[in-house]
Amino acid sequence: MRVGILTGGGDCPGLNAVIRAVVRKGERHFGDDLLGYRDGWRGVMEDDFMILDVESLRGTLPRGGTILGTSRVQPYMFDDGVAKVHQTIADQKLDGLVAIGGEGTLSCANELFRDGVPVVGVPKTIDNDIGATERTFGFDTAVSIATDAIDRLHTTAESHNRVMVVEVMGRHVGHIATWAGLAGGATVTLIPEEPFDIGEVCDSLSRRHEKGRYASIVVVAEGAKPLEGTLEIAADEYDQFGHIRLGGIANRVAAEIEVRTGYETRVTILGHVQRGGSPTAFDRVLSSRFGIAAIDAVHDRAFGEMVALQANQIVRVPLAEAIADLKPVSDEMWQTAKEFFA
Ligand code: F6P
Repeated sequence: MRVGILTGGGDCPGLNAVIRAVVRKGERHFGDDLLGYRDGWRGVMEDDFMILDVESLRGTLPRGGTILGTSRVQPYMFDDGVAKVHQTIADQKLDGLVAIGGEGTLSCANELFRDGVPVVGVPKTIDNDIGATERTFGFDTAVSIATDAIDRLHTTAESHNRVMVVEVMGRHVGHIATWAGLAGGATVTLIPEEPFDIGEVCDSLSRRHEKGRYASIVVVAEGAKPLEGTLEIAADEYDQFGHIRLGGIANRVAAEIEVRTGYETRVTILGHVQRGGSPTAFDRVLSSRFGIAAIDAVHDRAFGEMVALQANQIVRVPLAEAIADLKPVSDEMWQTAKEFFA
């Protein structure tokens, strides 16, 4: 078979491990020709690719980012975008495409599948918010980075008797915040799923400090929102692809904590540090399993499907089902995290 691979949306540790696995089994087991498309769907529309083989993938397993490049460009943004995808498939005699991406890339893959494109999806995002899979690769790495940062913030917070507000990624869901907050011993964690009351946050900090503890860590997901009418925040901004642009709620929360409690407060916004660098062992393994399952799916002509992790087994689910709903933090996880607050 001739199989194209692309990585779309925000980058994520583990992308290269997926590509490597697809190529490994594709070439060694099936005797496939593998074409790596540059910058996501842009590369497919413009037939901009590099030949991938086992030799060219050497050394990529521990490498962060994506050797193919990525973008948020999608065929449906252009009048002739879908036609160009079909043209590339015809010109290159492609039997299938493996699209590795998050919500945006997989939604596009689903529409393209309905428009006749033979595509299989692989779920990627540090946010871990894709429904139908218990895990996306990249999440474990992001949680490790955030936890390490929180551990470091504890020691400086304790030395100075300060409140540290640390902002982690998570636009719509708070998986990273909840996990890193739990792993790092946060005093309180704020997530998009649970609008917060800044008054309650400050009260819990005060209660803790009155008991003789003078340092606290507040973990805030970038998409965390105050309960309506409790705290003014800046209006949402959107990027050119219609994605909400966040990053800054921590500043607002910290300012309010300082004013209301009088405790000296500092802010750390982790930002893209969470997406960079080498994937953890867990993410390398999950990425490799997804990659192997994706090339198997192409050979089974299971187009319109996405590989997923369920009960620690790799399964296939329809793309339409996978993108239907974002996966929020479960009640069990949130209740567990809350037991450790303040
Ligand atoms: O979806 C992954 C993610 O890292 C989000 O957590 C974050 O809000 C967003 O991407 C940032 O996107 P960009 O790289 O375009 O700033």
